[in-house]
This record gives sequence, structure tokens and C-alpha cells, in this order.
Amino acid sequence: MSSTDLAIQNTTFAKDIQEGLSKSPKELSSKYFYDAEGDRLFQEIMNMPEYYLTDAEFEILSTYKDEILQLMEGVPFEMLELGAGDGTKTKILLEHFLDQQADFRYRPIDISQNALDGLVGDLKKAWPSLNVSEVQGDYFKALNKMKLEASAVKLVLFMGATIGNFTRAEALQFLKKLREELNPSDYLLVGFDLKKNPQTILDAYNDPAGITASFNLNLLHRINRELDANFEVDQFQHWENYNPITGETKSYIVSKVEQEVHIAAIDQSFHFDAWEAIYVELSLKYSKEEIDQLASEAGFTVIRNFYDDKKYFADSLWQAK
Ligand code: AVI
Repeated sequence: MSSTDLAIQNTTFAKDIQEGLSKSPKELSSKYFYDAEGDRLFQEIMNMPEYYLTDAEFEILSTYKDEILQLMEGVPFEMLELGAGDGTKTKILLEHFLDQQADFRYRPIDISQNALDGLVGDLKKAWPSLNVSEVQGDYFKALNKMKLEASAVKLVLFMGATIGNFTRAEALQFLKKLREELNPSDYLLVGFDLKKNPQTILDAYNDPAGITASFNLNLLHRINRELDANFEVDQFQHWENYNPITGETKSYIVSKVEQEVHIAAIDQSFHFDAWEAIYVELSLKYSKEEIDQLASEAGFTVIRNFYDDKKYFADSLWQAK
């Protein structure tokens, strides 16, 4: 990222933090969790035994990789991935598709060129014959470009329960926009975390080792680092809540004492009452009926839900209507 990009991003960051802390109740977006330290802590979360999502999706892809390939009916296709990360889970599909000599191209899409360079370098080393070319930028712009360019059938991957970080209305808006960039018959594989024993969910988002707490509280460290603020991070604590009716799993950062925090970059102070909370993340859990409804409203047909053995997670395969 160039220094100008960084400056622009910092300005947006500063503005969003300023607006969020001025709201009542206070609210900050979890999209700001992911600086270098946040990425590192998220990797740790994905490796925790309590964070069942990773293993569940791994199991689904390992079990159903061939069914997924068969759905492509032997025709050349483009597999696009939104927010590919380090591609650990996608490698299960890539390896199988290569073994089966499928005619496909893999196109990871990400906003971070750095992340893409790492992933593509890694994949080319592992499988020199893999047809891979990354697309850097905004998901929708990238998809639009490909809609105009490519005639091959598309299989879009949006995995890892990232859809759960949107409200239901945001998810619908996102999926409708995505639908507009696809041709009828293109496929979308979306990862949904499912409603289950509330304790299992709470344990995943409030682990005893405190990794999730560090991940969430890193947002305050990030504001200190990037906006020259003076949050005393140990005067705040992580709090998690799950609503088994709505499926909303919400994370909060709670001020343990009455305090004042100054953010030098915007030259503004913010007051916290004792036990005042900042709402920082939504991780929405779905039922099968809610997945069906979302697909239909967004203009897709559900072809099949792939579940892990415990039915903790679903990778739902949709086709554009
Ligand atoms: C990235 N996202 C799908 C994760 C989730 O489960 O909502 C982020 C996360 N937050 C706490 N633990 C993991």
C-alpha cells in the first residue's frame, strides 16, 4: 500500500473511530480488528479448540470436494474467492481439482495486494501447474470486470462465516449486489455458522485462554498506535453475549471504571462511565430456514447445504437464478 493510500485509510479510520465513540451507545466496526497484530491473533483464534468453525468447514470441504467439482459438470470454470486469506481451506479444493485434472482457473480477490502476493507465491510453489491469477481490489468492481471479461461458469467462494459479520439486512444487500455481478447459472458457496448449543457458541467467542479477548482489545491498542490515543487497555474488558432467538452473537468492550480517553490525532476526548460498553462485533448464527430465505430474497436457488458431522456449520451452495 502506498503512503497516500495509508494516509487516506488513516483518515477514514480516524473518522469512523470518532463517529463510533460519539454515538450512544458507543460502537466500533470489527473490520478494524485486522491490523498485523489482529491478523496474527485471528490466526490463533482459528487454531483454538473452542473455535469449532475452522475444523467444521475443513471437514465439509474435505468430505464434499468431489460433489462440488461434479456440479461443475466437466466444463471449464473460474473459481473466484472473496477474501481468500492464507487459502488454507481453499487448498483442499484446489488440490482435489488438480488431481482430477479439472479445467479451471483460481482467482483470489482481496483488497490487500500483500495478502494476495503471499498466497499466489505459495500456491505457485506448491502446484506449478495451477492456473491462478489474483485480482486486487473491491469485490464488486473485481467481479464486474470478470463478468465482462470471462464467459466461463463461475464458482464464487465466500467462506469462513464472514457473512455472519453482517447484519441480516447488510447480508441481503451484499448478496443482491453480488448476484448482479454474476450470470444466471453461476454458483456461490457461502459459509454459515449455524445456531447450536448456546454454550458452544459462547465458548468459541469467550475462550478460557483469553485469545478472543486480546483480539477484540487489540482494537484499542490499534487506536493508541495509529491515532496516538491513551487507552489504558487493562481498564477495559471483553464481554460476549449470544441471543439464541435471533442468533446474534455480540462482542463488547466494557470500561471497568469511569475514565476519560484522549485521541490526539483528532484532538478529542471521550468519556466512559463505569461499565459503559462499546459494541464491536456481530457474528450472526443462522438456521437452515434463514439460509433458504436469504438465498431466495437475494436471487439464488439453494442447490445443496453441505454440513459437518455435528451440524455446527454449513457451506451452502447456491446458483444464480
Ligand atoms: C472473521 N469472522 C468470521 C470471525 C467470526 O467468527 O465472526 C471473527 C471472530 N471474532 C471473534 N472470533 C472470531
